[in-house]
Amino acid sequence: MFASALTPAAELRPLETWHAAEFAAHLDRAREHIRPWVGPSFVTTDLAGATATLVRYAEQTARDGARIYGIWSEGTLVGGVMFVEFSAAAGTCEVGCWLEPGAEGQGLITLASRAILRWAFEERGIHRAEWRCRADNARSSAVAQRLGMTFEGVAREAWKVGDTFYDKQVWSLLTGDFAAGTSSPV
Ligand SMILES: CC(C)(COP(=O)(O)OP(=O)(O)OC[C@H]1O[C@@H](n2cnc3c(N)ncnc32)[C@H](O)[C@@H]1OP(=O)(O)O)[C@@H](O)C(=O)NCCC(=O)NCCS
Repeated sequence: MFASALTPAAELRPLETWHAAEFAAHLDRAREHIRPWVGPSFVTTDLAGATATLVRYAEQTARDGARIYGIWSEGTLVGGVMFVEFSAAAGTCEVGCWLEPGAEGQGLITLASRAILRWAFEERGIHRAEWRCRADNARSSAVAQRLGMTFEGVAREAWKVGDTFYDKQVWSLLTGDFAAGTSSPV
């Protein structure tokens, strides 16, 4: 099966509907850690919810839209990266990510994001990749920066969590930036 090595212990693979039970178990470890920072529809609480997320991605992938990839570390699903949006026709995509707390601090998301960005730019002809995060999500902004993305600005109070509206940062990487190797070396 397809797998891309990120480190000697970790690999990136498509996250598919048949992984639903594994994904649900992973979300039990990740849920409260990711809840403030990701879209509410991603933070499901049971197997049916985890399955629905993977089915939603599979349907969009079938239309050459959004895609989701898991990161397995020593055989355990610990997080992943996704194309929240992907349009070859428009030449644009948006990358997202998440990890369970024990997998932070190892560079897994930077490596995985770079792998899917390479595919988007070099194989699919994507011109512009975006990264959007809550303005107070320092770890997410740090990934965008590590990827060599340019900070474009803040969409004011564009991120709703519960009853609170947070500012949202927008970062981007263009195909020329990527080809020029502006991503910092890992
Ligand atoms: C955002 C999130 C995925 C970032 O995770 P992360 O572990 O900080 O990011 P990476 O996997 O790229 O790892 C970077 C860290 O590993 C270190 N590192 C070790 N080896 C590395 C390598 N080869 N390459 C890059 N960084 C490496 C970096 O120095 C950095 O450590 P630091 O935090 O002490 O500075 C994580 O904090 C998370 O899941 N948060 C909740 C959900 C969320 O916010 N999702 C994003 C929504 S926009």
